[in-house]
Amino acid sequence: MTTHIGLLGCGTVGSTVAEMLLTERVLLEKRSGQSLVLKRILIRDSEKSRSRNIPRAVFTTNPDDILKDPEIKIVVEVMGGIEPAKTLSMRAIKAGKLLVTANKHLLALHGMEIFRAAARVGSSVCFEASCGGAVPIVLALTRGLVANDIDQLVGIVNGTCNYILSEMSSTGKSYATALAEAQAAGYAEPDPTLDVTGGDSAHKLAILASLAFGVHVPFEQIHVSGINTIDDMDLRFGRELGYVCKLLAIAEKHGHGISLRVHPTFVPQKHLLANVNGSFNAIAVVGHASGQTIYYGRGAGGRPTASAIMADIVEAAMGSATLLFKQLPLLTRRSAARLVPMHDVSSRHYLRMMVDDKPGMLHQITGILGKRGISLAAMVQHEAHEDQFVPLVIMTHEAPDGKVIEAVAKINSLRGIRSKTRHIRVIDPQS
Ligand code: NAP
Ligand code: HSE
Repeated sequence: MTTHIGLLGCGTVGSTVAEMLLTERVLLEKRSGQSLVLKRILIRDSEKSRSRNIPRAVFTTNPDDILKDPEIKIVVEVMGGIEPAKTLSMRAIKAGKLLVTANKHLLALHGMEIFRAAARVGSSVCFEASCGGAVPIVLALTRGLVANDIDQLVGIVNGTCNYILSEMSSTGKSYATALAEAQAAGYAEPDPTLDVTGGDSAHKLAILASLAFGVHVPFEQIHVSGINTIDDMDLRFGRELGYVCKLLAIAEKHGHGISLRVHPTFVPQKHLLANVNGSFNAIAVVGHASGQTIYYGRGAGGRPTASAIMADIVEAAMGSATLLFKQLPLLTRRSAARLVPMHDVSSRHYLRMMVDDKPGMLHQITGILGKRGISLAAMVQHEAHEDQFVPLVIMTHEAPDGKVIEAVAKINSLRGIRSKTRHIRVIDPQS
């Protein structure tokens, strides 16, 4: 059987999907029993130079050439952003087409509306490429772990940030250089602010947590902080204390509620997640029956992402995507998540202050922490050389986030503190 495909977008991901549809045609036909034909590609700028492997005739700037073509059965949205991606995706669904999307931003904010629209018309939405690049984490959560109550999901889900942190730690590159390299390699979002401020990881966390816990996640209630304020001095102190800094997306069960958060995190050097480097992603999921399972692979870039999209195209063409979509009420019938506020979440904490090298400072700082029940696990202060201000690093035992935030604000107001205290959470994920 022949299945015609239309792409919305032909950038880093779209152009690789187009090339794979053209070059892997025989392999794909053998694996799926379907002849997959790339029919049209929507672009914005008809003057831009494109891959020579893609015939000129497939390009169009008119979405109707895809959405109103009755021969096109599968629409692959790889434009990104909210509009016009949302309108075009909804139009595709209403026209009875099967949607494949890599757009985590759109799904995190409007996933429920899109899934419900597809369910109403007996269509389907496949979104493996939206989380984890080549890593089949959506498949794992919706099929492999379907018999489990999930207790915890902890992931490195942004290739750009992981690349930046790895390069800063291992080669001493500056943040700006590492970010420019991640952009050149095609890992970053068109606006990399989404990557480095943690927004992209939070989009993925919203999708993964909704699959893991079967709930609707109010995206705006996820606690998010990014790597854009990370200083290499903190990476060095972390290493000295036996930790590696990773941007983690964490979803955890606490009684009847769940906590959802994205933040730079110190992970013990011996933990698997601490050894995931470059553009690789890894997601550790703890199920009540499975125990911990870990999914690892390239999380960003044209080919890894296209690999996941091709899998979705094959599922859609074979009809299994529509079957799965019908069978999975968790996509369309979710109750609202009961979220535990960030200030009640307990973890260990790394605090780095720049303190005036004068008597009494340490006493004041430990007093502020002690008054809030925050106990110290380790402390580092190196001798001052030229500067009168020295870094003072404190690792705490477990303490509620709210108490630590309160203590940090108080410490920052002390005379003798030069700059804002750097605060990084520390966790040892379950194993
Ligand atoms: P990109 O390189 O910026 O490509 C976007 C494509 O969409 C371009 O071809 C652009 O057309 C087209 N486009 C954008 N707005 C349009 C409009 N209004 N009308 C028509 N065409 C329009 O982005 P990308 O990196 O491929 O990412 C695409 C999607 O995949 C995003 O949702 C992203 O989050 C997701 N994703 C990316 C990666 C990755 O590693 N890059 C991994 C996983 C998921 P022109 O070419 O004419 O400008
Ligand atoms: N910008 C994203 C990242 C692309 O760096 O992980 C993959 O979703």
